[in-house]
Amino acid sequence: MFPRMVMLAFYLLSLMLFSWVLFIRQDTKPLMNSKEMKAPELRLRFWTSNKTSKCLPNNTTLANPAANLPELHRVFLLYKHCRNFRTLLKPKRCESDIFLLLAVKSSPINIDRRIAIRNTWGKEQITRGKKIKLVFLLGQTEVKGQVQSLHQLLDYESNEFGDLIQWDFVDTFFNLTLKEIHFLRWFKKDCPQAKFVLKGDDDVFVNTHNIIEFLHELNPEGDLFVGDVIRRALPIRNTKVKYFIPKSMYANNYYPMYAGGGGYLMSRKTVERLKDAAEEVELFPIDDVFVGMCMEKMNVTPVNHAGFKTFGIQKPFNAFDPCLYKGLMLVHKLEPTQMWVMWSLIKDDGLKCAASLAR
Ligand SMILES: *[C@@H]1O[C@H](CO)[C@@H](O)[C@H](O)[C@H]1NC(C)=O
Ligand SMILES: *[C@@H]1O[C@H](CO)[C@@H](O)[C@H](O)[C@H]1NC(C)=O
Ligand SMILES: *[C@@H]1O[C@H](CO)[C@@H](O)[C@H](O)[C@H]1NC(C)=O
Ligand SMILES: *[C@@H]1O[C@H](CO)[C@@H](O)[C@H](O)[C@H]1NC(C)=O
Repeated sequence: MFPRMVMLAFYLLSLMLFSWVLFIRQDTKPLMNSKEMKAPELRLRFWTSNKTSKCLPNNTTLANPAANLPELHRVFLLYKHCRNFRTLLKPKRCESDIFLLLAVKSSPINIDRRIAIRNTWGKEQITRGKKIKLVFLLGQTEVKGQVQSLHQLLDYESNEFGDLIQWDFVDTFFNLTLKEIHFLRWFKKDCPQAKFVLKGDDDVFVNTHNIIEFLHELNPEGDLFVGDVIRRALPIRNTKVKYFIPKSMYANNYYPMYAGGGGYLMSRKTVERLKDAAEEVELFPIDDVFVGMCMEKMNVTPVNHAGFKTFGIQKPFNAFDPCLYKGLMLVHKLEPTQMWVMWSLIKDDGLKCAASLAR
């Protein structure tokens, strides 16, 4: 009991210290000045060419029916044809013996979540003898005034941890499909030998041990798409909801089957095929539905697994019961501090989970 509390206190203290260094200090002083940024530290921020990823809006997409859509939808339609953006940061190519790639969608500002993941479920590089690699997928911040300090911070993070991939599009909800496509391209080019991919959000808790156990006898050369599968979901026609989609953007009554975007698993084979399909399918603003559309095109049926809780833990279960987390694969939505607590608890082998509540 005693060492566990000490560990926990230590985790929380380091988290607070990190946040202080990263946020509070920035108000008064930049994180590092240009002299401290030695040339080799910047080698990761490269510019493939000087031409910016400019792509002009296509205003004919706004012809009649779409004319009085919410602003976000208008912007989406104006730029829907823009699918090629520069890579601003990327890690070294994957080694050839990666078993599981953890690809986590994050926004530049979510430093606290990245720190928590790197130190908890994203920390172990080898589990049951299988190699794991963690990468974060980022766009650009859209908040003016944050741009410069976040650039410096991301350069620093990228240099320190070598786990950031950043592209030159604005990191917005409706641009997540762009993130998907660019990730798939990166995978094909720089990580084609990874056997499995777990794609998730930066507010999920992943039990990597259970994932590895689940995967270890599966064939990466066969199709595999597993998660919290949603069938016959209705497009939301209420303009006030975040997921609103007008008939002019999607006319069918139901979405194809898809796995909740909080986190799902794919085999290498499926990722490769998904890349080819995604290049052909028109962009759709909701990224997990977009992946569902691609799966339909590929004739792959998403497989449901009860261990993926992308809608969180439902009552009557106690969301903070560590035994619950021991039995699960992935849970959505956790605050960074909750990730630290959960991690320290599930790592505790002395934990008695006689009456497991999972499933
Ligand atoms: C990009 O721009 C920089 C400075 O404006 C210049 O030094 C460099 O040669 C340019 N690179 C290419 C590939 O055009
Ligand atoms: C699109 O833009 C052009 C030039 O800016 C303008 O002449 C045209 O009326 C616009 N079309 C629509 C549908 O807004
Ligand atoms: C602009 O949008 C119209 C209508 O959707 C489409 O027919 C046209 O091909 C688009 N142009 C470009 C350059 O993408
Ligand atoms: C997506 O990113 C591009 C490039 O930064 C931007 O022009 C566009 O407005 C963004 N789209 C949405 C819907 O946020």
